Amino acid sequence: MKKIAILTSGGDAPGMNAAIRSAAKFAFYQGIEVFGVRRGYKGMVDNDIFKMTSSDVSGIIDRGGTVLLSARLPEFKDPEVRKIAAANLKAHEIEGLIVIGGDGSFHGADLLYKEHGIKVIGIPGTIDNDIIGTDFTIGYDTTLNIIIEAMVRLRDTATSHERTYLVEVMGRDAGDLALYASLAAGGDGFFIPEAKDTVQDIADVIKERRAMGKLHDIILVSEGVGSAYEIGNELKKIVDTELRITVLGHIQRGGSPSAFDRVLATKMGAKAVKELMAGESGMMICSESNKITTKFIDYAWNGIVDNTQKRKDIELAHILTK
Ligand code: F6P
Repeated sequence: MKKIAILTSGGDAPGMNAAIRSAAKFAFYQGIEVFGVRRGYKGMVDNDIFKMTSSDVSGIIDRGGTVLLSARLPEFKDPEVRKIAAANLKAHEIEGLIVIGGDGSFHGADLLYKEHGIKVIGIPGTIDNDIIGTDFTIGYDTTLNIIIEAMVRLRDTATSHERTYLVEVMGRDAGDLALYASLAAGGDGFFIPEAKDTVQDIADVIKERRAMGKLHDIILVSEGVGSAYEIGNELKKIVDTELRITVLGHIQRGGSPSAFDRVLATKMGAKAVKELMAGESGMMICSESNKITTKFIDYAWNGIVDNTQKRKDIELAHILTK
């Protein structure tokens, strides 16, 4: 393998730069030329592909976002669009492609491999931690810490005014961010897609807490269950508490990556290059029980979801909110 390319696609995640840096530096070390594709698949289609040098990856390990820029390209579902993208890559004689992103980005990579024979390796990069087959995705830990910090700040004002705060967090259809922020920062309740807590359930928790003399609450709302404003309106009808809503939004995706994400991304970036050098394709890099492994890339959407531990964690989190 003489030439590889790297792209980041979908929502950016803190740690993507650390993965780019590691993959590029590891490839340089092996004498492989590295190309950067700007704006994910959009750059492949637009032929925005450039040769990277070590200065492109210097000083980026601690930067959030992605120096390669990112985009969502729904048009990539069109085989004709993928044909243009593949031809551009081949015109640069690029043999292998590393795709850093979520499962939507992996779908695109899988099709490039199956339709055009481009060797692809996926690295899971998304704050949502929603890729089947890997314990952690790059960016999730940093975002979790941002949410925890926000909760600590909100608790100060919530206790001072004896209020209930609903804090809406990202995660798409996965409740990991809300659930584990609740466990890590002592949340007082949560709405997540994987647990079916109703507004009445949370109202009951608030009433129980008042009976115990606890006069404030921080309740996490995962965006996958709906809007915190709508839930708040329902809650106000059945429990007498002064309510405020905070939607953390894209603040959750910014900032310097945590040590955990940097190390994870660094290990995954190098592993992706190793896989390409070994002639592998159509694979994704995973982190399983603290080991860096690989799985077929379609495991990200066809794999077996094992929620055994999450169910136990939900049970524990329910007990601890009381
Ligand atoms: O997938 C990452 C994510 O941040 C989700 O948590 C969120 O639903 C979505 O992306 C937001 O997308 P955008 O940045 O396009 O608004």
